[in-house]
Amino acid sequence: MLAALDARRSVPARQLDEPGPDDATLLRMLRSAVRVPDHGKRVPFRFLRITGDARQALGERVAARALARDPAIGEGALEKERRRFSHAPLVLVVIAVLDPDDSKIPEVERLFTAGSVCFALLQAAQALGFGASWLTGWPAYDAEILRLLGLGAHERIAGYIHIGTPRLEAPERERPDPVALLSDWHAP
Ligand SMILES: Cc1cc2nc3c(=O)[nH]c(=O)nc-3n(C[C@H](O)[C@H](O)[C@H](O)COP(=O)(O)O)c2cc1C
Repeated sequence: MLAALDARRSVPARQLDEPGPDDATLLRMLRSAVRVPDHGKRVPFRFLRITGDARQALGERVAARALARDPAIGEGALEKERRRFSHAPLVLVVIAVLDPDDSKIPEVERLFTAGSVCFALLQAAQALGFGASWLTGWPAYDAEILRLLGLGAHERIAGYIHIGTPRLEAPERERPDPVALLSDWHAP
């Protein structure tokens, strides 16, 4: 398990090709991903799957919205928006479901749970031989895009998890030094 944790790394979406996980493999991934710590057992998350033609269709709508947000946006940037969801064969949107009437479990803790799902998904994808990336960007926060994806007023996007078969081995990056991050508390 430690070896798997230590080997985890993101694969940029642009380097994720077909094949993506089939239905059974995706469900296998989700079975691992939903085993997250969850204060109050609220299950404050759900998934939205974007595959096939839906990826390009979403990209077109995102590009149109990008143009509305910034009429001076260049054609290069617009094309990038059109292709935003078309690299990997599967984009799984992890949606945080945040019941406003839940006064017992702080909202931030329910968000932590949804974020943990994203991380667990990355690990499950890699364990099954796929590459994955947790991305957000402005389309994770834009009210019109959230409406287009069918999010309710009390839902937020925790992440777009792009999943596919890595074209190349992703380069490792420098990791934080835990020694520098650890301190001991002593009673004052
Ligand atoms: C909530 C969240 C959102 C992120 N959004 C983006 C993003 O939009 N674009 C991006 O390049 N990286 C984004 N990242 C970073 C990548 O997922 C990834 O962590 C980074 O490329 C480093 O790779 P690593 O996972 O191997 O450390 C995000 C990470 C988190 C936790």
